[in-house]
Amino acid sequence: MAIRKVGVIGCGLMGHGIVQVAAQGGCDVVAVEADQAALDRGLGRIEKSLAKLAAKQVEKGKLAEDAAEAFVKETRGRITGSLERSAVADCDLVVEAIVEDLDAKKALFAELNGICKPETIFASNTSSFPIGEMGSASGRPQNMVGLHFFNPVQLMRLVEVVRTDDTSEESFAAARAFGEACGKTPVSCKDTPGFVVNRLLVPYMVQALMMLDRGDASKEDIDAAMQLGCGYPMGPITLTDYVGLDTTLSILKGWVDRYPDEPAFAIPRSLEEKVAAGKLGRKTGEGFYVWEGDKKR
Ligand code: CAA
Ligand code: NAD
Repeated sequence: MAIRKVGVIGCGLMGHGIVQVAAQGGCDVVAVEADQAALDRGLGRIEKSLAKLAAKQVEKGKLAEDAAEAFVKETRGRITGSLERSAVADCDLVVEAIVEDLDAKKALFAELNGICKPETIFASNTSSFPIGEMGSASGRPQNMVGLHFFNPVQLMRLVEVVRTDDTSEESFAAARAFGEACGKTPVSCKDTPGFVVNRLLVPYMVQALMMLDRGDASKEDIDAAMQLGCGYPMGPITLTDYVGLDTTLSILKGWVDRYPDEPAFAIPRSLEEKVAAGKLGRKTGEGFYVWEGDKKR
């Protein structure tokens, strides 16, 4: 099944990027948000990002100015925004990118089952929750996959494509092809906690935060150590700010509840304290660092 029209529910940090790469891949895209302000914010981010990408292509001599302008116009022209979930009824694929809350995701897929045409494929961009549970809640487990993109979606080249025991070959193949159309390299994953990347990455972030909590090193030194010692593009504390402290905490809470005997899944004290104080990272202007746009101190 070819994916031509895509719905994306949630147009936040991840959703706006998914909307954009799907449109860049030639799909018509409907972005659905909970309220007008969030929708405007998400669409505004897409416009900024498209302008940035186009300017870069011109700068590098890869596109002439009029071709870059046409790229922005055509891509933006494939995107519509809506506050109504019914707007995704005739989509070939719906990607969910709402908050990391399993009950909210299950309720959404159950509702979408009553809205979408029978062949619509459902995908979740969840960082940590079982795709199979969402598939059961959706009433169409054969059409359910995980499509796990990475932040920032416009720049990160991977997508994890997750299949459950119930996912049909057709749904899985269509989801992989969609990932490729978005310009990503797909890797196939089983429905395990954190799939491949987060099963490795999140425990690493936890260890860094625990190191900070113990006072073993400063956040600046922990970040510099991993950047300069291992060649990582960002240190783990900066990365936690980048991902969002609320999202990181939701991932860990879900895992600690489900797998209390797994020592790699633990909740650092500082993470809980920051979230309780509303310091959610770069998106709120403060997490472990204070942020002004891309600059941190
Ligand atoms: N759209 C368009 N252009 C963008 C952009 C966007 N959204 N974001 C950045 N850019 C541009 C920048 O403006 C910059 O352009 P110029 O060169 O013209 O200035 C260029 O892209 C590169 O950006 P930076 O200067 O910030 O350069 P960088 O080399 O530091 O790259 C980065 C930024 C790609 C984010 C890099 O720091 C990186 O790879 N960080 C690690 C990210 C990571 O690990 N992500 C995974 C998080 S975990 C996850 O996603 C899973 C989960 O479930 C939690
Ligand atoms: P976010 O808080 O930036 O965005 C979530 C958006 O969903 C918000 O704009 C919110 O208004 C909207 N929303 C919430 N409920 C909704 C509903 N019922 N209908 C429509 N819109 C709704 O969060 P995010 O960081 O973009 O994370 C989204 C999902 O992607 C989560 O499952 C998260 O675990 C996953 N994810 C996050 C990252 C990351 O680095 N932040 C990376 C990969 C995957």
